[in-house]
Amino acid sequence: MKESDYYNNIEDTIYGSSKETLELIMHELLDLITSIRAEMTEETGMDPVEHLLGRVKSDESMREKCRRKGLPETPQSALYEIHDAIGIRIVCAFIDDIYTIRNRLLALPGVEFVEEKDYIRHVKPNGYRSFHLIIRYRSQWFAEIQLRTISMDTWAALEHHLKYKHHFKGNTALIERELKRCADELASTDESMQTLRDMIRDL
Ligand code: GTP
Ligand code: MG
Repeated sequence: MKESDYYNNIEDTIYGSSKETLELIMHELLDLITSIRAEMTEETGMDPVEHLLGRVKSDESMREKCRRKGLPETPQSALYEIHDAIGIRIVCAFIDDIYTIRNRLLALPGVEFVEEKDYIRHVKPNGYRSFHLIIRYRSQWFAEIQLRTISMDTWAALEHHLKYKHHFKGNTALIERELKRCADELASTDESMQTLRDMIRDL
């Protein structure tokens, strides 16, 4: 690679010179979540997190999102106008754990609340459930944290497959209704599992 290509590549990333810092910040946030997880495991004897994922949005998706939002494709847009350059997903065993982790995260130094969308209490019309929290970390870095149960995660993954890999033909109303029904059935199982856990705890 020529030296000029190297500099062109740096200019080419929509994150400018902040790409590596974003990765570092994401890892710091994952470490914070890991410590909350360890604390809760210590307290209850059960790990509340099934899995934990983090990603920095790819250049291509970030550019696509800027275009969709009518923003210029600049680091300013990618880092400050759009708030999910850093995305973290926390998949929990039980519904209650979602709210406990949310509260503990917001209580940490350096973590500021920006916005949240509770699609668990306010389910999207298609059946999508999840808790989305936007935070600002160390006065500068935005991150979107999605918290959901295993069931919610399963549904979102399958729905994503159906939506993006195939194009619905024929009776889409029926398919949408069935998807919604699956989401509601999974949600009712989540509630039963939560109740069972509460019962076992009370014993
Ligand atoms: P953006 O402008 O893309 O941020 O849209 P928004 O702010 O209106 O959406 P929101 O922040 O509520 O949700 C964004 C993310 O949540 C998506 O990138 C998905 O990961 C997830 N999500 C939201 N709705 C759905 C859905 O109906 N199905 C699935 N599978 N995922 C969803
Ligand atoms: Mg969003």
